[in-house]
Amino acid sequence: MKKLVVSTGAGISAESGISTFRDAGGLWENYPVMDVASHDGYVRNPELVHRFYNERRKALLKAQPNAAHRLLHALESEGWEVYVITQNVDDLHERAGSSRVMHLHGELMKVRATDDETKVYELRPDALETTPATIIDGHHVRPHIVFFQEAVPMFEPATALAEEADVFVIIGTSLVVYPAAALLQYVRRGVPVYYIDPNPAQVPAGVHVIRATATEGMRELFRILTGKEAQK
Ligand code: APR
Repeated sequence: MKKLVVSTGAGISAESGISTFRDAGGLWENYPVMDVASHDGYVRNPELVHRFYNERRKALLKAQPNAAHRLLHALESEGWEVYVITQNVDDLHERAGSSRVMHLHGELMKVRATDDETKVYELRPDALETTPATIIDGHHVRPHIVFFQEAVPMFEPATALAEEADVFVIIGTSLVVYPAAALLQYVRRGVPVYYIDPNPAQVPAGVHVIRATATEGMRELFRILTGKEAQK
């Protein structure tokens, strides 16, 4: 089957009611990013960082996947092997049914042991809140999130996927955070690239920019890739 590799950012979850980071009113307007999403901030004030992610988990529980998430999954039934590489830490791609999802920046519904990063635990919906004092399986835990100033271990496997893409799609990211923004450089020459964003960042010539929201843009991309009208 043809490989469709999709790089998604906060914009694909915007229509599910989840704030992006850098749009007007976005998360970074309300929180000092280096206090709540950086390694130094976590060391300085772990209580604040736990509280920030507790709030985001509560918001996520109220959110549902939108048509863009669902249409990416629907393409799996239209002859496409769909690989999602997301900067998002929400689980909306999984909840929409996508079966191959790679999280570059971690996962909101998971925590990991502070003394053994291989020990990762899924939080239950009825026990979402953590503090620096929380103990799971005998370990203190931290959000299973890649903070700024920390390595992005999934980037290398993500570049391998980008290199195998028959079609590459970028949805809802401002392309300002590296290394995620560099994925486009690993796509083979001649492979079609689409970028869906209502306020797209600068991209190289040759990228097909679809200036639309994720749901509108995915309906157009679905038509392009399948020749059919999207039903979702
Ligand atoms: N549909 C599609 N795209 C949208 C929509 C929408 N309805 N609304 C906004 N966007 C676009 C914006 O135009 C912007 O290009 O989504 C993008 C959001 O950009 P950011 O807020 O910077 O989010 P993102 O690119 O995912 O941030 C990358 O930065 O803070 C870190 O770790 C965090 O993963 C995050 C990373």
